[in-house]
Amino acid sequence: MDSKIALVTGASRGIGKTIAIRLAKVGYYVIVNYASSKEQAEKVLEEINREGGQGMTYQCNVAVYLEVEKMVKHITKEVGTINLLVNNAGITKDQLVLRMTEEDFSKVIDVNLKGTFNCTKAVTRSMFKARQGSIVNISSVIGLVGNIGQVNYAASKAGVIGMTKALAKEYAARNIRVNAVAPGFIETEMTDELTEEVKKTIMEKIPLNKLGTPEDVADLVEFIASDKARYITGQVLAVDGGMTM
Ligand code: NAI
Repeated sequence: MDSKIALVTGASRGIGKTIAIRLAKVGYYVIVNYASSKEQAEKVLEEINREGGQGMTYQCNVAVYLEVEKMVKHITKEVGTINLLVNNAGITKDQLVLRMTEEDFSKVIDVNLKGTFNCTKAVTRSMFKARQGSIVNISSVIGLVGNIGQVNYAASKAGVIGMTKALAKEYAARNIRVNAVAPGFIETEMTDELTEEVKKTIMEKIPLNKLGTPEDVADLVEFIASDKARYITGQVLAVDGGMTM
């Protein structure tokens, strides 16, 4: 492969989809990972191809290490070494603690936090060998400031931040940069589910007085993954309209 290879997890819709399309546009061969939405993932690939980009789709649940390992082995064999990993797959299961089940706590941790570990571990050997690579973990402002009803989600996203810093230290000597992006309130299907009242309360906390778009996140991911950010590692970059300043 002449082009660099990027794996974007949870890329069948929302922020992941926009990141995948953007990376393909700037020349990456993109693996559009999805958990179950085959049709949506194929549509993302069609869009990539239509705009002259290259890629493939791959079904895999990031919460299961053996599945992740199989996916990475397949990509490495068929396409080449993954240069960029974007750990984007994420879920919410919001509930006040008193009503939150142990299962809902574990599920969110398994996808958001363990999924990030699983994908990172699986690409590590080949990235180390290449002595080159970039990992971008999609965290959240909720991991920085917390939120009512999101104890599981906040813990998983704060965990991603801690993991990012530990990984950045562990991988720096191999010339691999690891950074986290913490989006604020971005318009996607995930946030569509919130009630108007909740949305209004959030808007009051955004100095730029508007919601973010998946493009706002993709702009940052494109930059932080690129060589222009070659001296940046272990950072948490918020793209949140000033929400957490
Ligand atoms: P979304 O729900 O639209 O997309 C999430 C994607 O992850 C979906 O394609 C879903 O199929 C995939 N996914 C879920 N579980 C998976 C699994 N086990 N294995 C593989 N893929 C899986 O959500 P959205 O809004 O696009 O969020 C993307 C990321 O950005 C998530 O990590 C989310 O926590 C984070 N984020 C989103 C914000 C927002 O305002 N939308 C704010 C801050 C962070």
